[in-house]
Amino acid sequence: MSASGVGVAAKVLTERINRIEVSATMAITAEALKMKAAGISLADFGAGEPHFATPRHIKDAAIDAIEKNFTRYTAVAGIPEVRKAVVERHACDFGSDYAPEECVFTAGGKLALFNAIQVLVEHGDEVILPVPYWVSFKDMIQYSGGKVVLVETDEREDFRLTAKMIEAAITPKTKAIILNTPSNPSGAVVSPADLEAIVRLAHARGIYVLLDECYVYLTFTGAVVSGGTFTDCKSHILVMGSLSKTYAMTGWRAGFALGPKAIIGAMSKLQSQSTSNTTSFVQKAAVAALTGDQACVTEMRADYLKLRDQVLAGFKTIPGLTCTVPQGAFYVYPNVSAFIGKGGIKSAADLAAKLLSEAHVVVVPGEAFGTKEHVRLSYAVSGDVVDEGVKRMREYLGRL
Ligand SMILES: Cc1ncc(COP(=O)(O)O)c(C=O)c1O
Repeated sequence: MSASGVGVAAKVLTERINRIEVSATMAITAEALKMKAAGISLADFGAGEPHFATPRHIKDAAIDAIEKNFTRYTAVAGIPEVRKAVVERHACDFGSDYAPEECVFTAGGKLALFNAIQVLVEHGDEVILPVPYWVSFKDMIQYSGGKVVLVETDEREDFRLTAKMIEAAITPKTKAIILNTPSNPSGAVVSPADLEAIVRLAHARGIYVLLDECYVYLTFTGAVVSGGTFTDCKSHILVMGSLSKTYAMTGWRAGFALGPKAIIGAMSKLQSQSTSNTTSFVQKAAVAALTGDQACVTEMRADYLKLRDQVLAGFKTIPGLTCTVPQGAFYVYPNVSAFIGKGGIKSAADLAAKLLSEAHVVVVPGEAFGTKEHVRLSYAVSGDVVDEGVKRMREYLGRL
């Protein structure tokens, strides 16, 4: 093979690792980091993580666990206390009905999703994925050997997903449907009626619904249901949850899956041969988060809602920029098609690069989420950053 080394790498590495790519957000994040290191002040809407500190009582529980030397291996699927805390919190908030053995505690919701896909999806299986989608779903499916079947949603309908759209994409090879509601990147929420219809359709067809509830507590519509709410369809539902966004705990790596015992058992088996248990004292912190006062969740949600409205009001002052009203999570997904074709900008990725280099605003291009005319902004930042960032965008886009 050539002396370039490319051919060698292709031979050394497995076919499965060559099927996936590093996160599409990496390039822009790396450039933003360089600029920050050079002392440039950025309005950074790139990171998908809360700007809040982890609440005091959660930190104290971890510190206490360390002081008491709770620092050894634990059961792979999590200590009984944390599995109990997860199922009880979920039952209390969503009327689900899981036993602790139907729960595995994982190093973040991402690992729960990864492991679920690896134990369920076989080579050639089809997995339905609504667009726009969170970046990692596609690669996780491809890593397993599965085939991604995209289902387009319509921005004019607020990216609404219906059972009819899913039904049209089902074939005899369909193994699973991935739902993420509220959605990263659009903030769209699958309505309780649509969710029920999708879950019932999947159950009737023997297809698994992998429901990513990472942002479920950041829903602004009031009416919140979980896939787990439909207890009679339990055999085909896997709920993936995370403490990252709910309790501002992204760095702690705390997530979980709830589902049929055999699938949870297989996920635990996979975990037993990779990460083993999640960090012992993080599990104690998670118990404190899940069983403690939930006022912190309500307070943070109220702040996100204010920030959402502030961003949307700011966007109204930018001619040409349009944006759906997100019903949850902490992202806005404005349509930037009015600017593509102006000032040498050929794509949303180009625009994101220019916003960074010329306006010092960090956004993530929509190509990463499967659409070509959008950029994503995370408004999990201070109100001052929102104002400054919107001002910079208005000035830059106005000059195009
Ligand atoms: C849609 C979605 N699912 C899952 C995750 C994973 O979160 P974590 O692994 O921190 O629990 C994220 C994180 O950004 C996300 O946006």
